[in-house]
Amino acid sequence: MVPAVVERHPGVWTVEHPGAQHELAILRSKTTQRAEFRAAAERLGLYLAMAATASLETETVELETPLCRTQGRRRTEPIVLVPILRAGMLLLPAFLRLFPEARIGYLGLRRDERTLEPVLYYANIPPLQPRARIFVLDPMLATGGSMEAAVRFLQQQEGVSITAVCILAAPEGLERFRRSFPGVPVIAAAIDQGLNSQGFIVPGLGDAGDRAHGTGGAG
Ligand code: PRP
Repeated sequence: MVPAVVERHPGVWTVEHPGAQHELAILRSKTTQRAEFRAAAERLGLYLAMAATASLETETVELETPLCRTQGRRRTEPIVLVPILRAGMLLLPAFLRLFPEARIGYLGLRRDERTLEPVLYYANIPPLQPRARIFVLDPMLATGGSMEAAVRFLQQQEGVSITAVCILAAPEGLERFRRSFPGVPVIAAAIDQGLNSQGFIVPGLGDAGDRAHGTGGAG
């Protein structure tokens, strides 16, 4: 049996499931049009969501099937999904399919084109209960600045447990993020070669936000 998820660095996991890698190839291709891009991101998001939530805690519950009494397991932790606007919205539908009761918070972060540093322009986070499991969603972890800013913002609330979920990560950004937050796991579909001079992940998939929203000349 081939492992579906592999730990590449301490706390950094890539989803190797063939279905996930199939969707990733669709996302990478420049001929993939917007509707299919969104659909492939949602399908890939399901694999990422399964991997990212594999350590959720459960408790035993008593229940009755049509045949007899038995036991089952029920999740115990409140789940909060935090897509980073805009591109993080691509992963939200998949997580909501699996966790329909999740609370949702939004962080608006855009990269300054010159410095590549993140600028926070919107924040709307629901009340975070002490045992909340927060999943920060952003397809691209490039310099790592946006994910770092998001986690720093969310960690103002003590006792929460955060997981970073992305489609692609660049080694440079991962290193920065792991230095800042060694205890925050990262789940990705792939770790790419690196960043180009404009801070784009190479080979990457282009600008996920533009491709999903039809901006920036993405058609
Ligand atoms: C992109 C991407 C990430 C960020 C990654 O967002 O969606 O949020 O850059 O870069 P970093 O790791 O170097 O911070 P962008 O600023 O293009 O905004 P958008 O999602 O609105 O398109």
